[in-house]
Amino acid sequence: MQAVKEALHVATVPSSGLICRDDEQSRVLEFCKACVEQERAGGLYVCGCPGTGKTLAINMVKESVKRWANDMGMETPDALSINCTSLANTHEIFSKILATLQPRKKATGKLPPLQQLQTMFSHKESAPRRMLLVVVDEMDYLITRDRAVLHDLFLLTTYQFSRCILIGIANAIDLAYRFLPKLESLNCKPLVVTFRAYSKDQISDIIKHRLKVIEYDVFEPMALEFCARKVAAASGDMRKALGVCRSAVEVFEARLHESSDQEFGVVTFDHMDIALSKAFKSAVVDSILCLPQHQQMVLCALANTFHHCKKKATTLGELNKSYIEICRSTQVPAVGMLEFSNMCMVLSDQGFMKLGQSKEDKLRIVMLKIDISDINFAFKAFDFYWIKPS
Ligand SMILES: Nc1ncnc2c1ncn2[C@@H]1O[C@H](COP(=O)(O)OP(=O)(O)OP(=O)(O)O)[C@@H](O)[C@H]1O
Ligand SMILES: [Mg+2]
Repeated sequence: MQAVKEALHVATVPSSGLICRDDEQSRVLEFCKACVEQERAGGLYVCGCPGTGKTLAINMVKESVKRWANDMGMETPDALSINCTSLANTHEIFSKILATLQPRKKATGKLPPLQQLQTMFSHKESAPRRMLLVVVDEMDYLITRDRAVLHDLFLLTTYQFSRCILIGIANAIDLAYRFLPKLESLNCKPLVVTFRAYSKDQISDIIKHRLKVIEYDVFEPMALEFCARKVAAASGDMRKALGVCRSAVEVFEARLHESSDQEFGVVTFDHMDIALSKAFKSAVVDSILCLPQHQQMVLCALANTFHHCKKKATTLGELNKSYIEICRSTQVPAVGMLEFSNMCMVLSDQGFMKLGQSKEDKLRIVMLKIDISDINFAFKAFDFYWIKPS
């Protein structure tokens, strides 16, 4: 289990490489290759929500550029990665670039590093021979704190003899639009590559891919699916998904410890459920748990109905059958059709579902308006066993 936790650790670089980011990676790679080939400077801005693989993908691109240049018999570009949150002050970014360009030269107090760079890139004689790939991660820090530094940084790519390929990485998509027009007016608008949040299928593929180093199936397929769906619906943050999976492994280990009869086993839906409940406390889940019992049973009936079929709509009549089934299995007397239909209207008013129009009540279309995993989650985590696992 230690190896499993290792494979799922956020600091572990997946040994089998990166999946689901081929398109974004190839756009960045092509951009860098073109700059290296034509010996010209350029700026690129990568943005996207947390945990969408930006840092990982760009680090891999950086290595690919070096490998490619080497394979092509070109001079390998220098490369420098800077994380803005670890800068002592924002201007330190320029001294780091300067130090990479002049590794043997001691910093002289003559001119500030930024001016030295500007001078260097303005004259053919002083221009560096090699290209320099600079990856500036967590750039939000500069966007909010020191716009001037940010502009100066991108402006470095516009000097006639500049050799800088600048890749800025940040979360802020909206902030980007606030600073991009300014860069555009300065004639150094970077190419923008956006990393979209991971979908449910991508999250589950990535976890499976990372677990390929383990020789057996660690997670019950349903458990993985539940985690992927929940995280995708909430944020699409891979870091969160990995954290929840690790936490589910810990729940599994704790259970194993308590009952020594079980030697081997897999991480199940229930383990994942507990891990998810620790990680998420959704407002939707809370409001489901506050509903009267019969309304909760209607939502469960709806979740059970959609569990079997891919389509996300049913009729009031069908839903009523599923509700009666739950009532029977839990020995709770069911309410009549009129009251049932009123309950559904209340749930619809509260935004849990949507009710279509029809002359006949039983034929009204019902659609779920909340995430099915929230219903599963609400009832599974609190020991309501009328729900079929999704
Ligand atoms: N496609 C992927 N394949 C394997 N692991 C991935 C993938 N995408 C992300 N991860 C993992 O998810 C975690 C978060 O990824 P990463 O740090 O690259 O995100 P980020 O977009 O840079 O986030 P932030 O904006 O918070 O800096 C890392 O542990 C990384 O290894
Ligand atoms: Mg990052």
